Amino acid sequence: MTVQHAKLKEWVDSTVAWCRPDTVVWCDGSPGEYEQLMNRMVSSGMAIPLKKRPQSFLFRSQPSDVARIESRTYISTANRDDAGPTNNWVAPEELKATMKGLYRECMRGRAMYVIPFSMGPIDSPLAKVGIEITDSPYVVCNMHIMTRVGTKVLEKLGADGEFIPCLHSIGAPLAPGEADSAWPCAPLEKKYISHFPEENLIWSYGSGYGGNALLGKKCLALRIASAMARREGWMAEHMLILRLTNPAGRRFHIAAAFPSACGKTNLAMLTPTIPGWKCETIGDDIAWIKIGPDGRPYAINPESGFFGVAPGTSYSSNPAAMDTLKENTIFTNCALTDDGDIWWEGMDGAPPRHAIDWKGRDWTPASGEPAAHPNARFTAPARQCPSISPDWELPQGVPIDIFVFGGRRTGVVPLVHEAAGWDQGVFMGATASSETTAANIGAVGNLRRDPFAMQPFCGYNMADYFGHWLEMGDRFGNKAPRIFYVNWFRRNADGKWLWPGFGENSRVLKWMCQRLEGEVGAVETPIGLMPRQEDLDLTGLAQSAVDLQELLRVDREAWKGEVADIERSFAQFGDRLPERLRHQLAELGRRLG
Ligand code: OXD
Ligand code: MN
Repeated sequence: MTVQHAKLKEWVDSTVAWCRPDTVVWCDGSPGEYEQLMNRMVSSGMAIPLKKRPQSFLFRSQPSDVARIESRTYISTANRDDAGPTNNWVAPEELKATMKGLYRECMRGRAMYVIPFSMGPIDSPLAKVGIEITDSPYVVCNMHIMTRVGTKVLEKLGADGEFIPCLHSIGAPLAPGEADSAWPCAPLEKKYISHFPEENLIWSYGSGYGGNALLGKKCLALRIASAMARREGWMAEHMLILRLTNPAGRRFHIAAAFPSACGKTNLAMLTPTIPGWKCETIGDDIAWIKIGPDGRPYAINPESGFFGVAPGTSYSSNPAAMDTLKENTIFTNCALTDDGDIWWEGMDGAPPRHAIDWKGRDWTPASGEPAAHPNARFTAPARQCPSISPDWELPQGVPIDIFVFGGRRTGVVPLVHEAAGWDQGVFMGATASSETTAANIGAVGNLRRDPFAMQPFCGYNMADYFGHWLEMGDRFGNKAPRIFYVNWFRRNADGKWLWPGFGENSRVLKWMCQRLEGEVGAVETPIGLMPRQEDLDLTGLAQSAVDLQELLRVDREAWKGEVADIERSFAQFGDRLPERLRHQLAELGRRLG
């Protein structure tokens, strides 16, 4: 392949000189390339072909390399305050010096792959080009599914187009004759996932897993893109995008932000239980949003695949996802059944009597440990999803009517409430909270503030990000989407879920759409507007199954506790916190009395 782009060639040459791979492969993104790499990984024992699913493979990672690692993720800006209190920070010169030491000859004994990729349809005005250099063939195959890879991207780049350099190494050079392991990676203290937003640069070292290694996703499409978006006047958000069509044929586009492993993929692929309503999937994790010629916000999904959490996915929770995974799918850290299929906790039917667990050991239901890792994943092409919208690759995106925020909260937060205006909506986003999940390495089930579900993904000072949201609202003016907050996860005193969730969430989305159309009422409460019981369509739901009064209860005393916690979380931003949010907090406190 002849590469026209001098700056790209220079970067690749200097990386070769520093990392010393045995060979260099320019990826063309072809099915043949994917097949060849997979065949090689099957031969080496890294990939296990699945008898039950055509062109599908199982990988098992090292037990230390199973999730994103927020504690080793850095936003490196010249000025510490520009990274802000929610990000790890090391000065760029220092971080680069440390990492250069690690990168030195780190690819010995391996091939180095150069992956030209586009985030967003190649012809979209919102798309951005990245080039990932990696020494992991697993990463190359995942990038084939998750992004648009190949020669077309290089053509778009031409001789001097702009690209975001993304350097990745698993950090496991091989001495001559040394046998490779099934999942090579570096120890925790040598892992770094580093971002230099002032120069649109990503350096990742030591991990081969998910968002640490597929650099188009969290690193480029969220952390670097959020910083670019602020500079350029658009938005990069941790949001699914779906289209809901009502029985009259009116379309609503909803973008919703939830923390990792809180059901974004399930909501994006919703099967409505209310008659006459239809849902189409546009994206399940990330939205890039820009003001269109008519002044409305338009969103694209920059990805082309789903990197979804496997456990809990089933025909009853998410049939569209299950059908997406029938072929051409990469599974990571799932269990292997005796007949050559994958399995995970929460899948339909009885557990297998015997399987091989994600660590490669014999497993039975009596083993006392899950067979699949709680953050086991599938990587599947979006085009295979039965609910994918025919418009999911529209270059200009789809116009957003509604923003939804939420999180996983056992108590306090009701099923749904609505912001009376943009500032209150931004306040809801800024104060979103959730119990932590297995998507990050760390304790599970701890309550934390996760503003806009962007706590791990905001590439600059979070207070400035709040300010950017306020500014975007000013620019949207009367075209601004309405904002809602949901919690599907509230439990009763006995610890039972109060809301059935999944397809039944369509009832809550219907209320939102009807609010936009002025078809349904709401009552004012101290925390926002809420449906009266009769405003939610519960037809066909066993009424006894749902304690709506408890689901919609605003517990003033508990909310006063929230206010105190929000005050603490806002305090970390000092003077940088926008005054308009301080005002919202004061007003909330006043309304609670
Ligand atoms: C993800 C995450 O993988 O948010 O999407 O962790
Ligand atoms: Mn995510």
